[in-house]
Parts: sequence; structure tokens; C-alpha cells
Amino acid sequence: MIRLFLTRDSAALAVGADEVAQAISAEAQARKLDVTLSRTSSRGLLWLEPFVEVETPAGRVGYGPVSAEDVKGLFDGGFLEGAVHPLCQGKTDDIPFLKYQERLTFARAGLTEPVSVEQYMAHGGFAGLKKALAMAGAEIVKEVTDSGLRGRGGAGFPAGIKWKTVHDFTADQKYVCCNADEGDSGTFADRMVMEGDPLMLIEGMTIAGVAAGATRGYIYIRSEYPHAIETMKAAIAAAGAANWLGQNIQGTDKSFTLEVRRGAGAYICGEETAMLESLEGKRGMVRAKPPIPAITGLFGKPTIINNVLTFAAVPYILAKGGKAYADYGMGRSRGTLPFQLAGNIKHGGLVEKAFGVTLGQLINDFGGGTFTGRPVRAVQVGGPLGAYVPVSQLDLPMDYEAFAAKAAMVGHGGIVVFDDSVDMAAQARFAMEFCAIESCGKCTPCRIGSTRGMEVIDRIVADENRAANTALLEDLCQTMVDGSLCAMGGLTPMPVMSALKHFPEDFTRAKRLAAE
Ligand SMILES: Cc1cc2nc3c(=O)[nH]c(=O)nc-3n(C[C@H](O)[C@H](O)[C@H](O)COP(=O)(O)O)c2cc1C
Ligand code: SF4
Repeated sequence: MIRLFLTRDSAALAVGADEVAQAISAEAQARKLDVTLSRTSSRGLLWLEPFVEVETPAGRVGYGPVSAEDVKGLFDGGFLEGAVHPLCQGKTDDIPFLKYQERLTFARAGLTEPVSVEQYMAHGGFAGLKKALAMAGAEIVKEVTDSGLRGRGGAGFPAGIKWKTVHDFTADQKYVCCNADEGDSGTFADRMVMEGDPLMLIEGMTIAGVAAGATRGYIYIRSEYPHAIETMKAAIAAAGAANWLGQNIQGTDKSFTLEVRRGAGAYICGEETAMLESLEGKRGMVRAKPPIPAITGLFGKPTIINNVLTFAAVPYILAKGGKAYADYGMGRSRGTLPFQLAGNIKHGGLVEKAFGVTLGQLINDFGGGTFTGRPVRAVQVGGPLGAYVPVSQLDLPMDYEAFAAKAAMVGHGGIVVFDDSVDMAAQARFAMEFCAIESCGKCTPCRIGSTRGMEVIDRIVADENRAANTALLEDLCQTMVDGSLCAMGGLTPMPVMSALKHFPEDFTRAKRLAAE
């Protein structure tokens, strides 16, 4: 029997993976060949999707990007034996993009079928939870603290401190909520976890529940992710059937149940307190802090809220020990981050590396530079509220503190590349426009300031009282930073000010063009 592998990740489905799967089955049938096609998680080599792998005695050999029309030629060319072909990428493990990664969270990517408990366990799954079930809550929290794991959703808050707060608080009910709203531009790692290795997220959340004494959990998934929602629901059912979830997990006195909730389709619903409001069935409006959600969270009860990638890192930490995870990384940024290469990039996809890798290494060594072949000019790191980093700073190490020192942020690890054709004044205006559209409207600096910000940028670009309007924009940005209730209004100035600082010439471009 010949074994083939093709992902069911929606990035591959979007470029025809199902059609390729059908063509392979039809061709194998017509040729009366004994072929099985396994629909796995994605390797994260998104520019090669649909990426078909064949098992050979030497290991898996990959072909991509494959279209349904290519399939007959691949069979003729002997791809079932791993033969050389224009689409052949060689042994998958030797593809440099994969070979030089440090995959702890994404260790199973491309290897297993997403909702198979059997395959998950054959590749190390549930080893962390098994250990946690035999530990006291405080011991689990200590392991997570020792790992140095910080929240992967953007703010980088230490997970151990959050978990300890919920653990130490006495309440009749506690909750664990996973923030899977993944609204940042250029990010897709949360989706890949949920579509590709959902049992890992279930395991991480269950460990959190066991640690803190929480018996109920919710996964708040953005509404634009129908495949992730479907896969998570199927995985919850499979984990429950195998008693890794539910009452008396694996015969212990620990119980934990999980439910999926569909997001309300607004960027602000990713802000944790707005997410709680939305989970409670209300409009997604930001709550004032304090009280913090760890003490007064969902339905007023102590709640652990973490991002998908934060929970997904936990099974490894419990299985191998906090120190093993902390051995990766630099400074106070411990472990690995699954970086997401997007925008104008030749090799877009997922690169999991220890903190400390530079932005330039990610873009050039892994990403292969821009898709257009033109020079890189700016890189937005950390989503729509992140700074535009100029090409002169590509030697910046991916580290929370190193980025903060440059008035930038690592955020959720989304990296969006722009070539030299980008208009940075337009990008700055877009940041204000995005804030105006997505603001929850609760506070004035964000609600009104973002609209005024667009107008001021328009005046600067139109060369109206340039000096005075530039000073006004800077003042407005400072007011938004100081006076906004949450990071939506508080961080919008980051991309605006970075554009103004690093690319001032773009704000006079219209004037120069008019003069030419
Ligand atoms: C406007 C806004 C949008 C956010 N969107 C997300 C999101 O989509 N996913 C996420 O995990 N965190 C998001 N956050 C951060 C959360 O508020 C919160 O810090 C995070 O869920 C905590 O989990 P962590 O500690 O594991 O990062 C957002 C914050 C703001 C201000
Ligand atoms: S900063 Fe903006 S999004 Fe945040 S609470 Fe205020 S109005 Fe709402």
C-alpha cells in the first residue's frame, strides 16, 4: 500500500486541496493502485500548498504546489516512488524552511490527522495532561511559571502569574477561556492549531483547568473560521469519548468540560474583557480594569484567559518540564514563537523559532525576501496596532523587550512585509481608519481621536500647515496613548508614529509629485 498525505487546512483548501485529493483518488482507482490518502494538518509551507507528500523508504517526499491538472502527470512521472519531477521539493524534512525551525508547539504539524486521538497519542499527545492529573494545582502552576511562558495573544503577560491568581482565589466556579478571535492582520497560527492539532489546545486548556480548579472552559473562535469551529467541535467530542475531557478524566477526581463559541465578528471582541461580554451574550464592549478577569471574569467568576498559542505551549511544558521550554529563547522571552510570514513575501507560512531569531533572518532566510522581488521597505510586526519597522532595523531580535525599546511590538508574531512601492502615509491613515471602524466607542480618545487622526493625516499629506498639523498629530497620538481605556486606542498611535518617524518622505510625496 502506498501512503499519501495532503492537508485539510483551510489555506490549502482555498487553493484547491480538495480537488487535488479527488484527482488523486480518481487516478489511483483508474490505475488500480492501492493508495491511501491521509488528510493531515498542514506543514505550514503555505506557498507550496496544495502540498502532497508520499511515504518512501527514505522518508516522506513532497510535491507542490500541486493542482488537480498536475495529478496525471505526477502519476506518469512516478511520484508514488518519490521520483524527481518539476514539482518535487525533495525530502520534506530537508526543505530548508522546515529543517531550520524549532518546532515545539507545531511538532506534529503535517504528521497527524487532526481529530485522531490515537495518532495524537502516538506522537506524544496527552503526556502532559497525564502528568498534570497526578500533580497538585500549585505544582502545575510552578511548572508553567518556571517555563517563562508569556501570553502569546499580544501583551506578553506571564502565564504563570495569571494562573496563580486564579488558583489562589477561592470560588464556587472558575472558568478557562481561550481567546481564538485571531483578528490581527497576517496571523494564522491559532487557526492552524485549531484546524491541525485541536487536541493539543484541548490538552492545554484542560491542564489549565486542573491547575486552577476550573471545571468549565470556552473557546471563543472568530466567526470567519468555519473549519476551525467544525474541527474543534469534532476534537472535543473525540477527546470526550476517550475520557481525556469530561467527568473524572482518566479515572481521576478531575473534571473539565469544553464548549466552542462563535465570535461576533468584530476586532474588539479579541480584547479579553470584550470577549467576556460577548461570551455572556452581550455586545462586545470593553470593561474597565480593575477588576481583572483572573478574579472577576466570565459571569463574575475567576477566569484564566489565554491565547490559543499560550495554551498550546502548555502540553510540551508539562511533558518535558518548564526548564526544557525555558532553555529556548533570550532574555525574558523564553521558549519559541510560531511566527507567521505574510504580505509581500516569497515563502509565506509558519516559522516556529526560539525567541532571538532576527526579523531579517525570518524574512530573508525563511521567507526568501519579497514575492515581487523588489526590496523590502517596511515590515509591520504584531498586527494592525504594531509598528512599521524600517529595513534598517531588520537585525532586531524577536524579543518582547528589544522590540519595546524600539517603540515596536512582537505581539502575536504576525509579520507583514511591504516592498518599496508602499505608501507609508496611506498606511498611517489606514491605522487611524481601522481604529475608527473597530473602536467599541466607549472612550473619547479612541472613538473621536481616530477620526480626527485621519483628517489630520489628510491635511499633512495635502501640505496644509504641515508643521502645525504634524505637531497636532503627535499631540493627538499622545492623548490616545494616555487616555484610552484599552490597547485598541492606546496602540493605534504605534503604527502611525512609526510611519511618521521612519518614512517622513512619504508624507510629502503628494506635494513632490505635484511639483514634478
Ligand atoms: C483590540 C484588541 C484585540 C485583541 N485581539 C486578540 C485576539 O484576537 N486574540 C488574542 O489572543 N488576544 C487578543 N488581544 C489581547 C487580549 O486582550 C488578551 O491580552 C489575551 O487574550 C490574553 O491572553 P495571553 O495572555 O495568552 O496573550 C487583543 C487586545 C486588544 C486590545
Ligand atoms: S480604547 Fe477604543 S476600543 Fe478600547 S475601550 Fe476605548 S473606545 Fe473602546
